[in-house]
This record gives sequence, structure tokens and C-alpha cells, in this order.
Amino acid sequence: MTHKIAVLAGDGIGQEIVPEAVNVLKALEKTDGLRFEFEEAPVGGTAYDQTGHPLPEATLKLAKAADSVLLGAVGGPKWEPLDYSVRPERALLGLRAELGLFANIRPAKVYEALVEASTLKREVISGVDVVVVRELTGGIYFGQPRGVSVENGQRIGRNTAVYSESEIRRIAKVAFEIARKRGKSLCSVDKANVLEVTELWRTVVTETHKDYSDVKLSHMYVDNAAMQLIRNPRQFDVIVTSNLFGDVLSDEAAMLTGSIGMLPSASLNDQNKGMFEPIHGSAPDIAGKNLANPIATILSMAMMLSYTFGEMKAAKRIEDAVNAVLTKGLRTGDIWTEGCSKIGTKEMGAAIVGEIINSPGCATPS
Ligand code: IPM
Ligand code: MG
Repeated sequence: MTHKIAVLAGDGIGQEIVPEAVNVLKALEKTDGLRFEFEEAPVGGTAYDQTGHPLPEATLKLAKAADSVLLGAVGGPKWEPLDYSVRPERALLGLRAELGLFANIRPAKVYEALVEASTLKREVISGVDVVVVRELTGGIYFGQPRGVSVENGQRIGRNTAVYSESEIRRIAKVAFEIARKRGKSLCSVDKANVLEVTELWRTVVTETHKDYSDVKLSHMYVDNAAMQLIRNPRQFDVIVTSNLFGDVLSDEAAMLTGSIGMLPSASLNDQNKGMFEPIHGSAPDIAGKNLANPIATILSMAMMLSYTFGEMKAAKRIEDAVNAVLTKGLRTGDIWTEGCSKIGTKEMGAAIVGEIINSPGCATPS
């Protein structure tokens, strides 16, 4: 079976890291007998420059027809002056909404080899392995009414936080399922002491827990969660939260690891199909210089293989290859420490491909 992948490299370093991820999948065609078909399309600022829209019709059509979407990154200072409706970020929000990608899964795992890269102390972060499950197609990001209007002679800005119980239930289920396969502990983050919408969130998550009594459920207010993540991150296994809180907490969780260039993500629909992308952005300051770390994008391919295609063995092969190059001391600039070899984007991609091709137990490359 051939898996069709829509390849949307986007802006900035997206153009450099995505080809490395494609090379990794191509290596797995040789070692694991997988078959992929890649089709590229522009997205973000690059698409705006070419077509006047960050998410052109043809790109959306390709993404919808594909079995899976590989996304690099969007945005950059060049497009910041544009109207909101055509900003590169709108492409992301459009893809999420149009493909129904309501479940955003963002693991933050500290690699022992990279502990020193964190700004936090080793004893706080060593062993951290958290997954943030963020609701991605609802809440204040999408609620109506929204916008800026003039009322009684002054400008008023407005966004609306809305969740239906079915939206809450389906993301809670995803989070409980993930927790069940890991440390069996789920923390639901809300602001139920102030916001009614999140009081409903807490109620529905608690109701959903009845089907997952093997998982330990706790609730935490978002301000406390932000503090606890820094104070004692190892207390968390899986966190489930709303779109906006998840946006903030997933960046915080990512930074615990000290290496945002390492963290993958998956955004899934109700069939486990979805979009896979690094957590980091388009990093315009280092774009085009062969400096970017391709590992987050490459690890996103491992998530694609396990979540969408059920190819656990191939997914593991990617993760093992990443571990192997790190153990050998190969580092891009963002994760470099004294005594390691500093290499570029292409060299890192090639090193990971080399590990995959040469890893024991592979079929002979054809
Ligand atoms: C993210 C990003 C996006 C978001 C932006 C770029 C629209 O911060 O994926 O976390 O806010 O969701
Ligand atoms: Mg964010």
C-alpha cells in the first residue's frame, strides 16, 4: 500500500527541514518496504507571495486528498504587516479547521544526552516525559463573535471562548487513551474557578473518566499548572487542555527540555489522520544557512508512522536512529554543548538516514 503524503514545507527553515524528513521516509522505503508518494504544495507566506493567499485552494485540496500531511513551518517578519485574514498563520488555522484536526499531541521528553541544554537544573528536568494533549479546533481560537468594532465611539476587541460537551468529550477520550498506554495519569487543566466554559470542561472530563477508571485523573487550574510545570515537571504524565491554554503550556513544556528543535507534534482528526509538524516555528533568523535542527520534523514522521499508519516498527527505527546520532555526539547548533561535533541541517539529516540504512535487522537496501 502506498501512503500519499502532502508535503507543505512553508516558510523559513521549513524549506530546509522538510526535505530531511522526506529523506528519512525514503530510507524507510528501502529498509522497511514502506511505499510513499510525495506531492508538494506551497503554504504560508510562500503561498501568499505566489498566489495572494496563505492557504491556496489547490494546497487545501491536496492536503484533504492525502493520507497524511507533513508541514514545516509558516510565518516570518516579511508577512507581519499583512492583514490578519492573509497572514501565514491563517493557513495553519485553516488546515486545522478544514481537516478537522481537533487533537493536538505534543510530547516533551528530556533526552539524557541533552539535559545540559535546558535552562533548568538537571535534578528538576532529568527524566521528564510529558505529553500535552491540546484541543485544536475550538475554544477562543474559533469562537464567535470575534473581531474589533467601534461601539459608542471607541474600538472594542472581542473573542469568545466556546466549547460544546461533545468537543470536550472527544478530546478527553483521546487524552485518556494516550494516558492509558503510558503512565496512566491524566491532569486536566482549566480555569474552572472563573470561566464557566471551563467549568463545563471539568464536568465533562470527569464524566468521561467513568470509562477510564484505570487512569488516575486530576484537575488543575491553568495558573497553578504553569507554575507546577517549572517547579516539578515529573509529576505530569499526560495533560489535557483547551486550545489557548494548550498553546501556552505546550511551549512551556517544550522549553523544559531545552531543545525546542527536538520536539515533534501530531494533529489528528477522528480517523487518526492528520498533520505532522515540528513544534518550533520558521526561525527566519537562521533560515537558508543550513543551521536548523531537522530532528523535530524527523521525529514528527515517527508520530505519523505510529498514529496514522500503524507502522510501529518503522517509527521506532526513526527514534532509535535519532538516539544513535545524539549518542555519537552529533549536534546542530541549538543543542550543541562543549565536546560535541557541530553539524548542519543536511549533515544531521544524512546521519539519521545513515543510521536507519545501517541499523541491524534491516532488510538489505534495494
Ligand atoms: C502553535 C502556534 C500557532 C497557534 C500559531 C502559529 C497560530 O503557536 O501551533 O502553537 O497559536 O496555535
Ligand atoms: Mg504555540
